Amino acid sequence: MRILSGIQPSGVLHIGNYFGMMRPAIALQAEGEALYFIADYHALTSVRDPEALRTNSRRVALDFLACGLDPERATLFRHSDVPQVTELAWILSTVAPMGLLERAHSYKDKLARGVAATVGLFNYPVLMAADILIYDSDVVPVGKDQKQHIEMTRDLAVKMNETFGQIFKLPEARIQPATETVPGIDGQKMSKSYGNNIDIFGDEKETRKRVMSIVTDSTPVEAPKDPERSTIVQLYSLFASKDELANMKEQFKKGGTGYGDFKKELFEKLREYFAPMRKRREEILRDKSYINNVLTKGAKRANEIAEQVMQRVRKAVGLR
Ligand code: AMP
Ligand code: TRP
Repeated sequence: MRILSGIQPSGVLHIGNYFGMMRPAIALQAEGEALYFIADYHALTSVRDPEALRTNSRRVALDFLACGLDPERATLFRHSDVPQVTELAWILSTVAPMGLLERAHSYKDKLARGVAATVGLFNYPVLMAADILIYDSDVVPVGKDQKQHIEMTRDLAVKMNETFGQIFKLPEARIQPATETVPGIDGQKMSKSYGNNIDIFGDEKETRKRVMSIVTDSTPVEAPKDPERSTIVQLYSLFASKDELANMKEQFKKGGTGYGDFKKELFEKLREYFAPMRKRREEILRDKSYINNVLTKGAKRANEIAEQVMQRVRKAVGLR
């Protein structure tokens, strides 16, 4: 089984990225050949600062490794180290129906938020399909927001297979129901672009500030509170044991504890959860060549697979 996923280096990684994609991806590295990449070509649709793109790309590699990606088991690489994906994206774009791309939620959402409509942004799902198909991927661990992109990938694979004969496998999204959409501090989906994120490796003071500003209703301290509709409880459930979660829910229903105290408890759990990863991150940072070595090795392996698949594609469509 081949497992593949990507993450954009368009900012700092947050706990939505962690629970939606990174943790499931790390768990899957034991189950097959895993390939994970830093989607720098994709990030070009929003990042216009070359230095920031380079820095963020290294930082994503660092954070992913710190969180448990094991380079002995999984391949970690930069998207742009496999430029064949842009070749495949072009080929896929020649069979991609306009209507399919026009229905893409993420494109429509971005336009609605005032992002300029570029051809790259519109074509994003085609490049993403190329990312997945070029490695003969079977399983793609992602958060729910990427579901439609994987469906489009399957549509494009089917279209290619119908047009040119059997070329591609049909990949499947792997979405964890419990963490498919992690809420941000305002209760909406956590996202860098909404500014409601809590970062995995945020500094202590900033993280505390963010947790303490989780939006709540105005139920007074002494009154019972509804745990089922609380962002605090939802976030706490990511870090706490079953008993701890049940206990917090009980306290909510009982009344007598203010939201501030629950937030403090969440903050403590969150810091505790990521403590070993912060430690690992410091270790990696001390070894100056570690990340480069991992990425160089990753690029080589990813290239081998991509080139093999591309030879099959070029032959099938008549380019060689
Ligand atoms: P992005 O930051 O858009 O590159 O997202 C990287 C990965 O994290 C994708 O698989 C997303 O689906 C996942 N992800 C991002 N935000 C969330 C969230 N709030 N909840 C769950 N998964 C998320
Ligand atoms: N579009 C994904 C995101 O924004 C990142 C991504 C790019 C990806 N290519 C991919 C994820 C291929 C899985 C597979 O989160």
